[in-house]
Amino acid sequence: MAAALGPRATGADPDVALVRPAGRLRGELRLPGDKSISHRALMLALLARGASRIDGCGDGADVRSTAAIAAALGATVERVEGARATVTYRVASPGADRLHPPSGVLDCGNSGTSLRLFAGLIAGLPLKATLDGDASLRRRPVARIIEPLRSMGAELSARENDSLPPVTVVGHSPLRAVEWMTAVPSAQVKSAILLAGLRATGTTRVREAVATRDHTERMLRARGVTVRTARDGDGAVAELEGGQTVRAIDERVPGDLSSAAFWLVAGAIHPDAELAIRGAGVNPTRRAGLDLLRAMGARIDERPTTTFETGAAADVGEPSADLVIRSSDLRAIALGPADVAAAIDELPILCLAATQAEGRTTISGAGELRHKESDRIAGIAAGLAALGAHIEVDGDDIAIEGPTSLTGSLTDSLDDHRLAMTFAVAGLVASGETAVDGAASAAISYPGFFSEIERIRS
Ligand code: S3P
Repeated sequence: MAAALGPRATGADPDVALVRPAGRLRGELRLPGDKSISHRALMLALLARGASRIDGCGDGADVRSTAAIAAALGATVERVEGARATVTYRVASPGADRLHPPSGVLDCGNSGTSLRLFAGLIAGLPLKATLDGDASLRRRPVARIIEPLRSMGAELSARENDSLPPVTVVGHSPLRAVEWMTAVPSAQVKSAILLAGLRATGTTRVREAVATRDHTERMLRARGVTVRTARDGDGAVAELEGGQTVRAIDERVPGDLSSAAFWLVAGAIHPDAELAIRGAGVNPTRRAGLDLLRAMGARIDERPTTTFETGAAADVGEPSADLVIRSSDLRAIALGPADVAAAIDELPILCLAATQAEGRTTISGAGELRHKESDRIAGIAAGLAALGAHIEVDGDDIAIEGPTSLTGSLTDSLDDHRLAMTFAVAGLVASGETAVDGAASAAISYPGFFSEIERIRS
């Protein structure tokens, strides 16, 4: 079948991509560098005095926002095009004590990670800054970071009764250490508190009822900071002593498993597919999407990638693997709140997988999805329903009955990158033509996503 993809031929709306069903899917995908790790690598390079080099960095708009903010706070940031759709950043920083106040508002664009982690980082510096972003970011909750950072001694204020961006932070040095139990599972909140804790007197401890991704903890350790962590059932605790110095290092960022998830589902639900994905990060706190897909019956081969093969400049404790996915017969599964937290970014594409799985897939306690780049519960339900899927939403619970033959239709990504990519993948198996409105948003995390679709389809 002929591929038809890209801006609408009429030129009526340059941000609508058209996807027609693929006869087969074959090839090897290029993954962007892991978005979460890329953000943190840039921020920790800003805190560390001296020269850091970050290879394999993601080049999406979100990571670019973080790089620009690091420069605005006083680092020299050089971006060099790298291999396989990634970039290398060279960051030279005067160190945390010599950063300077920005000359204007810090623009986080669409990136919640930039806004929340920089709020924590700036809270412990003797400077004032305002963090803002686009219309989507301005709808995302910030009380969750304002409360702990205030209790550590920083001054923070935000719009709508301190609930929505922009956020102004007046840092304080030193901060007071805090023991904080997060109200919602959020690696962004945990990371903001730990970054502030580096600049606090005493031991800062973050407890989570449901464990979230631990990149900050691992990456701090790789830079010479002692971070103690423990698991407690579904929960976790992380603590560090204030006053520790973050060392500048060179590192290589693994491929983004949340981006790989689109190809894993594309391969699993397409009847004639074999796709290879090299060097995806498989950190145990990030790999739930892959494991859930496997539990649904996806035929995924996984071969660990050694440090030597990835050419890592430093072992930052982030495991990676080469993956191969083949056409699969999927079956329904039941996901609870701990699965939701662990696979938070993969849930939209897992919902698509569920439309092709035998039985009723249930997802309970998915409320956090409403606070992402869009209300992802509403967005995924509307988009998949438009394609003919049987999807029900009851409060924060989702149920999907499968398998269903999808029919091409107009879908609205709500300018949310993960919804745009989910509907594009749906278009590879839906009959007729699937139109994805707001397709350009894919570049938030995955520049080149639509060219990759072209490369692997026939
Ligand atoms: C991220 C954490 C998650 C995730 C986001 C990236 C991070 O957000 O959805 O895409 O890098 O820490 P929350 O921790 O707020 O759920």
